[in-house]
Amino acid sequence: MSDLINKLVFITGASSGIGKASAELFAGAGAKLLLAARRIDRLNTFANELHTNYKTTVKSIKLDVRNYNEVKSSFSQLDTDWQKIDILINNAGLSRGLDKIYEGKTEDWNEMIDTNIKGLLYVTRIVLPGMVKRNKGHIINIGSIAGHEAYPGGNVYSSTKFAVNGLTKSFRIDLLGKNIKVSSVDPGLVETEFSIVRYSGDEEKAKNTYKGLTPLIARDIAETVFFCANRPEHVNIDEIIMTPVAQASTAYVHREK
Ligand SMILES: NC(=O)c1ccc[n+]([C@@H]2O[C@H](COP(=O)([O-])OP(=O)(O)OC[C@H]3O[C@@H](n4cnc5c(N)ncnc54)[C@H](OP(=O)(O)O)[C@@H]3O)[C@@H](O)[C@H]2O)c1
Repeated sequence: MSDLINKLVFITGASSGIGKASAELFAGAGAKLLLAARRIDRLNTFANELHTNYKTTVKSIKLDVRNYNEVKSSFSQLDTDWQKIDILINNAGLSRGLDKIYEGKTEDWNEMIDTNIKGLLYVTRIVLPGMVKRNKGHIINIGSIAGHEAYPGGNVYSSTKFAVNGLTKSFRIDLLGKNIKVSSVDPGLVETEFSIVRYSGDEEKAKNTYKGLTPLIARDIAETVFFCANRPEHVNIDEIIMTPVAQASTAYVHREK
């Protein structure tokens, strides 16, 4: 029996990939879902599917996590019951390009830093005071293996995930005594829309990222997130790094010819 029945789970970046797969698993476990992303039409369609398939109580909100005022006002406009988040999954994130640092585009750097670091901070800053007040909650950050080791061309993306790694550890320290869990799930290669976004819609290039190996799928990560969220009251999962079998590190990957 899951402990997640009627828990309110807020997932950022739920219109695709890991966020979407996580929403599906939590819906199946009877959780109540608050889903956010910029592509609201997609999100609404998905929310309707969840409601039909799982009878989930689900609300979708259009949100750009980079905009602090938008995060703040969207949240404050929710009914108070929808503001009492039990589990926050900070998943919204992206990478842009694989340029060497001396060729990188500053607009790509800004987008990654604004989304992956500042966006995560903004959402957390809005949600966390309620958790502190209620003396319960769980934050699950989606980091990356790239937050543990650098790789060629990964420079700024990798740095944003190093920051997420640092923030996860800091949150845990700041929240000691507040009965709030803080976890991070840090995947290697997962086939989602991530590479399509990285290569600005070039599907051929995106496909090549996973050529000759079996990558993780979004559901694999969702199951791990779900595992973290479904531990006994006294257990905190600090960090899980997970990779496909064919990946030993960010740079060492075995590909069949
Ligand atoms: N795939 C991998 O290999 C991999 C590996 C390690 C870590 N990760 C991490 O996993 C997380 C999810 O990525 P994914 O693989 O599932 O990629 P994805 O399929 O591209 O999904 C990314 C999600 O983030 C949302 N998002 C992006 N920018 C946003 C913004 N400014 N405001 C709100 N939402 C935003 C997107 O929604 P909208 O575009 O609709 O806003 C989308 O729902 C990311 O943090 C990523 O860094 C991925």
